[in-house]
Parts: sequence; structure tokens; C-alpha cells
Amino acid sequence: MAFTVAIDGPAAAGKGTLSRALAERFGFAHLDTGLLYRAVGARAAEGEDPIAAARGLLPADLARADLRTLAAGQAASRVAAIPEVRAALVDFQRRFARQPGGAVLDGRDIGTVICPEAEVKLFVTASAEVRAHRRWLEVGGDAAQVLDEVRERDARDMNRADAPLRPAADAVLIDTSTLSIADAVAQAADLVQRRIG
Ligand code: C5P
Repeated sequence: MAFTVAIDGPAAAGKGTLSRALAERFGFAHLDTGLLYRAVGARAAEGEDPIAAARGLLPADLARADLRTLAAGQAASRVAAIPEVRAALVDFQRRFARQPGGAVLDGRDIGTVICPEAEVKLFVTASAEVRAHRRWLEVGGDAAQVLDEVRERDARDMNRADAPLRPAADAVLIDTSTLSIADAVAQAADLVQRRIG
């Protein structure tokens, strides 16, 4: 039986932690769709055409050790604005979403474009300052620069023409600015459990 949990939201809102916790709790498969764009961005940064990179993406690309840096995030959001790059990644994500046994996907357009039929849709957000602080704890460096990069990436993701970041009309909003991870997971798990029935 297919059961999809779609989790969208801006960078460092807590989508990854929440997705992994839900996947573990309910035995669902999990896909961090940002990794697909990060891998395409990394290949493009090495000089490859981003559309060709997206069409030829391999599992080994997703295992690269350099996908979590700020630069990789910026490269991802630049290639993610190219419609042909997004189109090349749709089928894989849709198949993943509807696999038997259930799936959690986190990204920017899961509830709006990839899987509008998802049984549960969450939009996870937090203030830019809180998100930048979390990112800074992970990557270090200059805190003001990290905040600038978070804002820049938000603006690019929200203002692109193809699949911009926005909540689906029927998404449940979870703001993790003041909510602990445990509370956010409990809230989301409750929604999933109620939908499973
Ligand atoms: O979630 P993460 O920070 O890894 O995503 C990196 C970038 O990939 C985002 O800033 C966004 O531009 C792009 N992305 C996207 N659609 C998704 C997932 C990520 O456009 N479903």
C-alpha cells in the first residue's frame, strides 16, 4: 500500500530530523530530495552541464562527502531553478513516493508538485535567524555570512518560476522556532497515525 508523507520547508527548518524520525517510527523509506539537487550542483560546479548531470545522476553521486557544505547548498539552489533539471528528477521521486510500504520525502516541492496526492503534507519552517544559527552550529564560520546565505537561498527557492517553495494549500504548518524536536516529531507522528487510522 502506498502512503506518502510530504515534508517541505526552507533550509535548516528541521525537515531532515523530522523525516528520519517519522520514517523510523512508521517503517517508511526516506528520501532527502535536497541531496539530488546538491549532487547535480556538485557535478555542475566541476564543469558538467547541469541538465546532463541531472539526467545521468547515479547513486554514487548521492554518496559524495562534499554535499553538506554551504557552497553545495548554494550550487544546489542555482541548478534547482532550471526547469529541465527539475523535470529530470521527477520520475525517480514519484516512484519513490508511491512505493509499497510507505515513504517520507523532504524537500521544497513534494506536496505541491512531486506528490500532491500525499496522504500527509507538512510545511516545516522556522525564523531565518533560528535556521541560520542551527546551520552555523553545523558548519561554523562567520555567523553573519551564514545568515546571509540562508536568506539568499530562501529568496532564490521562493522566487523561482518553476516549483517555488510554498506550502501546499492542505499542508499542516509546523514552526520549529520555539518547538523542540521531540515536540515537532510528536505532533507530526500524531498526524500520520490519525491518517493511517
Ligand atoms: O534541503 P537542502 O538544503 O539539501 O536543498 C538544497 C537545495 O536544493 C535547496 O535550496 C533547493 O534549491 C533545492 N531543492 C529543491 N527542491 C527539493 C529539494 C531541494 O529545489 N525538493
